[in-house]
Amino acid sequence: MSKRVTIPTHIAIIMDGNGRWAKQRGKERYEGHLAGVKSVRTVVEAAARAGVKYLTLYAFSTENWGRPTAEVDAIMELFCRTVVGEGETLAAQGVRVKIMGERTRFSATVLEMIDRIETTTAAGDRLTLVLAFNYSSRREMVLAMQSLAERVAAGQMRAEDIDEEAVAASLMTNGIPDPDLIIRTSGECRLSNFLLWQASYAEFYFPEVLWPDFDERAFAEALEAYAGRDRRYGLVKDES
Ligand code: IPE
Ligand code: IPE
Ligand code: MG
Repeated sequence: MSKRVTIPTHIAIIMDGNGRWAKQRGKERYEGHLAGVKSVRTVVEAAARAGVKYLTLYAFSTENWGRPTAEVDAIMELFCRTVVGEGETLAAQGVRVKIMGERTRFSATVLEMIDRIETTTAAGDRLTLVLAFNYSSRREMVLAMQSLAERVAAGQMRAEDIDEEAVAASLMTNGIPDPDLIIRTSGECRLSNFLLWQASYAEFYFPEVLWPDFDERAFAEALEAYAGRDRRYGLVKDES
C-alpha cells in the first residue's frame, strides 16, 4: 500500500546551535555561523526538490544585537559575503529571496546587499526563501497595530473592520501562508520571538542536532515526522 506523503507548503526553521557547535571544536563562535551556511545551502536545495514552496529561516533576531560586537559584526559580514556569493546560484535554482525584518540599525553595505539579493532573485518562482534578519515577532505585531490604528485614525477603516485577515495583511509575512512546520535545531524547545501570530496551528519539531550538522538526512527526517502528524485545527476527526 502506498503511503501518502504530505509535504508542507511552508517550513520555518530556527537555525540554532552554531555557537555550541564551534565550542565543541574549540573554535570561535563565528566558525559555527560560517559552518551553518553550508546547512542553509543544503536545506534550500532539499526543500526546493521536495516541492516546499516557502522556506523561512531565522538568521538574526532583534535581540541578537545584544551579543558581543565582534560576533554581530562577523554575522553581518558573513551575510554580505554569502549574498554576494550565492545570488546567481539561487536565481538559477528558481529561488526568490525576501529579507524579513526591520530595516533599521543595518549598515549601508548590509542594506545594499539586501537590495541586491532581492533584486537578483526577484523572478524565482520555485521556492520563496524568507530570511528573518533583524526580526522580532512582537515588534512585527506592534508595527502592525500602529499601521492599523493610523488607518482608523485617518478614517480609512473602522475599528470593527479589524479582523484576522486585516491583521495578517499588516504583518511582515503578508502574502505568505502560515508555516505548516516549525523546526528548531539544537534541542531548545522555544520560539524566541519567532512567528508568534503565524505559528497558531503549526506543527513543531525539535531535533537535537546542532544547525551546522543539519543535513539532507535530518531534513528528510523532519519531513517524515511531519507526514505522521494529525492536524485537526480544533475539529473532530472524520472517522468515515
Ligand atoms: C544560532 O546559533 C545563530 C544565531 C542566533 C545568529 P547560536 O549562535 O544561537 O548558537 P548557540 O545557541 O549559542 O549554540
Ligand atoms: C534564536 O536563537 C534566533 C536565531 C536562531 C536567529 P537564539 O539563540 O538567539 O535564542 P535564545 O537566546 O536561545 O532564546
Ligand atoms: Mg542559540
